[in-house]
Amino acid sequence: MRTHILGIESSCDETAASVVVDGDDVRSNVVASQVDLHRRYGGVVPEIASRAHIECIHNVIRMGLQEADCTPDDIDAIAVTHRPGLVGSLLIGATAAKTLSWAWQKPLVAVNHVDAHAVSASIGVDPLPFPAVALVVSGGHTSLYSVGGFDSITLLGSTIDDAAGEAFDKVATMLGLGYPGGPVIDRLSPKGNPKAHAFPRTLLARDSLDFSFSGIKTAVRYKIHGTGRTTGGLEKLSESAVTDIAASFQQAVVDVLVKKTMRAVAQTGASNVLLGGGVAANRQLREALASECADRRLTCHAPKMAYCVDNAAMIASLGFHLFKNGQTASLDLDVSSR
Ligand code: KG4
Ligand code: ZN
Repeated sequence: MRTHILGIESSCDETAASVVVDGDDVRSNVVASQVDLHRRYGGVVPEIASRAHIECIHNVIRMGLQEADCTPDDIDAIAVTHRPGLVGSLLIGATAAKTLSWAWQKPLVAVNHVDAHAVSASIGVDPLPFPAVALVVSGGHTSLYSVGGFDSITLLGSTIDDAAGEAFDKVATMLGLGYPGGPVIDRLSPKGNPKAHAFPRTLLARDSLDFSFSGIKTAVRYKIHGTGRTTGGLEKLSESAVTDIAASFQQAVVDVLVKKTMRAVAQTGASNVLLGGGVAANRQLREALASECADRRLTCHAPKMAYCVDNAAMIASLGFHLFKNGQTASLDLDVSSR
């Protein structure tokens, strides 16, 4: 008997539903993005996000089932993101999942969103690439994990200030490139000179696996506006000057991410590297990490593009493995921002 898991994700600004069979056969992957609603504010507005989730979650789940050609009877369990994320947003997905679990009499599985990003590159990989070091880089998180298996994902280090994706978004806003910043900086960078500006590579203590991106953000601000009290500056920059700043910024962030991941590999002795999260869609990061891994004879796995930004396929996939281990949740499951 094959096991069908319905995954539900609503931790930030994407409402998503997916049906995954036996952990890696993704039958549907429906994502309703709210990016157009948040663009004018330059970031996610929590209250707007939770309202938008309420409006569309019912249809998103219905489409997830339809595209997979499934009825509720075909579903063996419902996996839902219960942490971390925006509490109001998480509540919508968790409430939908609990309601369906009760109405359909199907078990509920609670999934940690960041753990799901950490193992998203393993979907469809055989044999499973564990033990591994996983780098999760998204709008809300920049963390390194030691992954022994689906139920043994241990935090090694994380950002002490901004997440990498957040830095992409803020720098893009400073450069007048719009929101979200990651995709536009990714697209512009190949046209610029990555050596034009030597932005700081903050590596912290010698053996530290934590990250800090606030320094580079400030360096970009000074580059645009100068170090005085002036607020102008951007209008004085030519298009190629903007592109050079974007390329140099991206190069510095990628250098730090790759270097820290290699530090984690050295400390854990893992021979597999996994990448995950929205910033995992970044072409330069994917190439640099793959090339560094190849030089060191490590195996590198990056998620398919569809599993980089928030999605429910990764929730259903990890949910399957937890369900197999008997890790089900009760109907009083709570959500948590952390
Ligand atoms: O994983 P995700 O969808 O949401 C969180 O869990 O935070 O990640 C969203 C983040 C945003 O900051 C966005 O700018 C960034 O991922 N991002 C990228 C790219 N595509 C999305 N950053 C760099 N390069 C990209 N191609
Ligand atoms: Zn995410």
